[in-house]
Amino acid sequence: MTPSSPRAVTVRVPAKVNVQLAVGAARADGFHDLANVFLAVGLYDEVTAAPADTLTITCEGPDAGQVPLDRTNLAARAAELLAARHGVEPRVHLHIAKDIPVAGGMAGGSADGAGALLACDALWGTGASREELLDICAELGSDVPFSLVGGAALGTGRGERLTPLETGGTFHWVFAVADGGLSTPAVYREFDRLTEGTDVPAPEASPALLDALRTGEAAALAKALSNDLQPAALSLFPSLAATLEAGTKAGALAALVSGSGPTTAFLAADGASAAVLADALLASGTCRTARVAESPAPGATVIRP
Ligand code: C5P
Repeated sequence: MTPSSPRAVTVRVPAKVNVQLAVGAARADGFHDLANVFLAVGLYDEVTAAPADTLTITCEGPDAGQVPLDRTNLAARAAELLAARHGVEPRVHLHIAKDIPVAGGMAGGSADGAGALLACDALWGTGASREELLDICAELGSDVPFSLVGGAALGTGRGERLTPLETGGTFHWVFAVADGGLSTPAVYREFDRLTEGTDVPAPEASPALLDALRTGEAAALAKALSNDLQPAALSLFPSLAATLEAGTKAGALAALVSGSGPTTAFLAADGASAAVLADALLASGTCRTARVAESPAPGATVIRP
């Protein structure tokens, strides 16, 4: 059965940027408590689920070669978890059309997990409740619940406990994709190393940031953006400093590392400024590619049939 089969279900899932990522000290379980303000952005992966004899994964897109096609892929794990809970066999072919940077700090892997979950639920008619889907997402990874819900949300705990946030307008971004990826656990380990012996405060959402999201004012959001993982990402990937500087010089309202990186995010005043900024970033030679996108974006959505 091919992804274009009439019985196939396709789900579109957005990438994310963290407009605030406040990180607490390492917990006993190795995870970190967070105040993680997620904003979904309009760069999407599409996950198609089609009947098959066994669980298989294929992937297309410029960076498809970097995507694992075995059971470590969150899309495969999502299908297995849903199937196990509902007593069915995960007989499904999952096809990922990948547009979100791989290992880039934009939750591309999490997006594929949430997308596969929703697609398999529709394909198998399991009729899982929203609550059950969110539970499975949290089991898959800290960022996966947000990929399902999209929009804007505050994530607490390890980032999986979500409170939806209001946004008052459209924000315009440029994402500079680096040559290479960063491992999220490695970035958190570097955070632990850099903060060793210091008093790491409990993470809290910034009222100024939440206000800026509510009013939709890009200039106010620019002043409030923060990412506690940025020093760790820069320490492991020093060339990102040049990308951040190039975007700032080219007129970005603000520049920061997206999540655990190495994608860097630049806030622009409007769509036209974002296009100019993307050209300048590409011309600077400090990134592999530059993508323009708007936020907020909707969460995982069935788009076919
Ligand atoms: O939850 P997820 O599997 O996406 O996390 C990947 C890794 O990132 C974890 O194994 C952990 O090393 C780190 N992490 C963390 N604290 C969080 C989220 C992730 O230390 N809140």
